[in-house]
Amino acid sequence: MSLTANDSQIRDLKLAPQGKLKIDWVAAHMPLLNSIKDQFEKDKPFKGKKITICLHLEAKTAYLAKVVQAGGADVAVVASNPLSTQDDVVAALVDGGIYGYAWYGASSDEYKKHINLALDFTPDALIDDGGDLVSTLHAERLEQTKTILGGCEETTTGILRLRSMEKEGTLEFPMMAVNDAYCKYLFDNRYGTGQSVWDAIMRTTNLVVAGKTVVVVGYGWCGKGVAMRAKGLGAKVIVTEVDPIKAVEAVMDGFEVMPMIDAARVGDYYVTVTGNKDCITAEHFYVMKDGAILCNAGHFDVEINKQDLQNMAKSVRKVRNNVEEFTFADGRKVYLLAEGRLVNLAAGDGHPAEVMDMTFALQALALRHVVEKRAELEPKVYAVPDHLDQYVARLRLKTWGIQVDELTEEQKRYLDSWAE
Ligand SMILES: NC(=O)c1ccc[n+]([C@@H]2O[C@H](COP(=O)([O-])OP(=O)(O)OC[C@H]3O[C@@H](n4cnc5c(N)ncnc54)[C@H](O)[C@@H]3O)[C@@H](O)[C@H]2O)c1
Repeated sequence: MSLTANDSQIRDLKLAPQGKLKIDWVAAHMPLLNSIKDQFEKDKPFKGKKITICLHLEAKTAYLAKVVQAGGADVAVVASNPLSTQDDVVAALVDGGIYGYAWYGASSDEYKKHINLALDFTPDALIDDGGDLVSTLHAERLEQTKTILGGCEETTTGILRLRSMEKEGTLEFPMMAVNDAYCKYLFDNRYGTGQSVWDAIMRTTNLVVAGKTVVVVGYGWCGKGVAMRAKGLGAKVIVTEVDPIKAVEAVMDGFEVMPMIDAARVGDYYVTVTGNKDCITAEHFYVMKDGAILCNAGHFDVEINKQDLQNMAKSVRKVRNNVEEFTFADGRKVYLLAEGRLVNLAAGDGHPAEVMDMTFALQALALRHVVEKRAELEPKVYAVPDHLDQYVARLRLKTWGIQVDELTEEQKRYLDSWAE
């Protein structure tokens, strides 16, 4: 298949060599995906299939797209967020025979158009991140759902949307909940988000974290990572939660827990990571310290109420790349990073390659599972089979050269019995 930029909607094909270097760098640090790629090249599990991939389009996701292509598929990629697309990376994919529909900073109309173009590609299966492909198919292109074998969902927010469709009985094809596999959320959400959020905040602001007060809004898997790494950087960490169990966990992990209205008075940095809307609103902006820095790491830019910020601000100006300053009538200023979109992807490179290696190994294997086992699956949300989770963990240990013990037959019998 020979493609040109004309078949795709990208910024500039000439950026391809730079994007290829980025992809080569991550590929050298993704041994799990390399081994799956070797297997796919032999087995060609996606031969004759078209796959649309909707993810944050940076080097690691690009490498996943190439692995799926190596499995025999025709592949199209589209962004899951208009601010996380790296134009050089998408150009490199298009140069390598993949269809691309994305550019950095796409308007909402352009973003929607790109999603629809990626569906005009008539995929047999898909990988989604946050649910925009699946919800567009079900809301606007229902007829096309009949032609889709199934797909995989990358993140917590997308799985919430899928489960609500499943509950309503409106989901038309099987979807694998990749986020909910152990080898995804325990490492990607926790260590990946923990490291990449602070990398993005530090490179964007060039300010110190040690000695500052950090407010982490939401103590789920991502929030745990963000709080843990803030502590490691020397910050005093406050957690806000709505779930009493998570709040107890945060206290026992050594963090202060309080309502948002109290945390709003003392924070220097705020990181929302809940998947929920309106976590920080006008009532909180009213009491914030001068100079507070706000950012979001949840999937959508709804966690910090940007409309409230705009309404309260006497003036707004861009003071650095990805930093907007909002000045209130009383002279206080607060700063919003990356327009409230997930800061680690919109103002950084996302999670480290080694972490995404595990996530995308699961994505590749779960996609193969849904394509090969379609006849056995119903239109439901499925957990990634345990043996695939175990396989990824074992492969990870193998690439580190770490061995673990095996259960003896007697130990297995003991664990399975109740009488001994
Ligand atoms: N930035 C990234 O790279 C990245 C990576 C993975 C997931 N995500 C996204 O981050 C978000 C969180 O994911 P997760 O896996 O941690 O989810 P999770 O379900 O494990 O945790 C979310 C937590 O937020 C809490 N919460 C909900 N509303 C709240 C509120 N108003 N105030 C305080 N706490 C509240 C919940 O009780 C829960 O403990 C999702 O949108 C997910 O899609 C982002």
